[in-house]
Amino acid sequence: MHGDWLDIGPKTQIEPGTARTLPVEGGEEIAVFHTMRGEFFALVNACPHKQGPLSQGIVHGDVVTCPLHNWNISLRSGNALGADEGCVPTIPLRVDAGRIYLKRSAVLSPRAVLA
Ligand code: FES
Repeated sequence: MHGDWLDIGPKTQIEPGTARTLPVEGGEEIAVFHTMRGEFFALVNACPHKQGPLSQGIVHGDVVTCPLHNWNISLRSGNALGADEGCVPTIPLRVDAGRIYLKRSAVLSPRAVLA
């Protein structure tokens, strides 16, 4: 696969229930999540509350709980859930033949490796 999709590596590099970060030169760090259900999501790695590192949060279902003040953020939409309000940008992601791809146009000048 090529064109507008950026290969960031094999999906096996992210354990289920965890996330890894992707540094972006000149842009905001991206967190790539692997849920216990086997889904993958990519979001800007900054909580909509006070920029907590979502990659270090607890993943449950398709939600991550921010490690700083426990806001729940939908991995699917980037929206804060419950009484909290805010939204973090999501990055289109697809998995093909065991590799993870991010929408290139949604990522500014990325280094093509996970940190
Ligand atoms: S920074 Fe995430 S809940 Fe406060």
